[in-house]
Parts: sequence; C-alpha cells; structure tokens
Amino acid sequence: MPLLDVKIYGEEVLRKHSEPITKVTSELVALAKDMLETMYEAGGCGLAAPQIGKNIRLVVIDTTRPDEEEPNPYIMFNPEWEVESDSEDVEYEEGCLSIPEIWCNVKRPGKVVVRYTDEYGDPKEIHDCIGLFARCIQHEYDHLEGKLFVDFISSADHALNQLKLRKMAKKA
Ligand code: NI
Repeated sequence: MPLLDVKIYGEEVLRKHSEPITKVTSELVALAKDMLETMYEAGGCGLAAPQIGKNIRLVVIDTTRPDEEEPNPYIMFNPEWEVESDSEDVEYEEGCLSIPEIWCNVKRPGKVVVRYTDEYGDPKEIHDCIGLFARCIQHEYDHLEGKLFVDFISSADHALNQLKLRKMAKKA
C-alpha cells in the first residue's frame, strides 16, 4: 500500500471544512487503510483526510503503543462526538503530523462519546472514551472543521512557536 503525502501547516486544504461521506465505498476503505499505514510510518496516533489533501469526513485512529500492544485501528467516517455528563477537562500535550516539531498543552473534555460509520458502512457508538483516545477523537474531528491544535494553545506557547509556524507556512 502506498504511503501518502502529509500536508503541512500553511496548506489551504488543512483550513477547509470537509464534506460528509454519503457512501462507504471500497475506494474510501482503501484510502483509509493507506492513511493508517502512513500514520503508523510517521509514528502518529491519528490522521484526518484533510492532512492527506482530501476534504472529506474521514479519520483514522490507533492509540495503542506500537511496541507494547497489538494494533487497534479505527476507521471513522463522518465522526461526531459529545461530552459525557461526568467529563472533566484535561490539559495534555498535543502534537500533529501536519505541524512537525511543535508540542503544546491543550485543554479538552476528558470523557466523550463518539458516533461514526465504520468501514463496513455500519453505524457505531462508543461511550466513555477517555485518555489519549478521547483526545485523538477531538483533535482529528477538528481537522474536519479546518481547525488545528495550535488554534487552542496559550498565547505564551503561541509566541514561543510563532517563528516555527511562520517558517512552516512559508514553505507550504
Ligand atoms: Ni493533527
């Protein structure tokens, strides 16, 4: 399976709203598998379609530790999430394959429910997602809305990374 080209901060495709997927086709499933492969190769735990240049509502996630656990990939078409009633906000360091070499704290809800269509076209709902999985769902969802984690970092962190971001955007 071919590795895909990951778009970098500054590319317009990362800032666009992505379109819903009306039918899960074999082509889309093949694309999702290529995205997983690309994500594993880059050492990431999530990848959204805009990051490989397609503004469609598809994300892939695997938050298992590569050398310690069996892979547990998720392919999510048209994902939606909501905060669970007993959720508390958590601050945690985030990075993004489209924004290399920058890691900053972002505060997000700690417990969510996610709803999506899987690779067989079946609706799925997972309650009480926590930890890295909950964070990844929200981060990847943001990509579908044209948002990036650096939109949510503190002004101090933004100031610290401004030069790196500007350089990245210039190359894009
Ligand atoms: Ni990202």
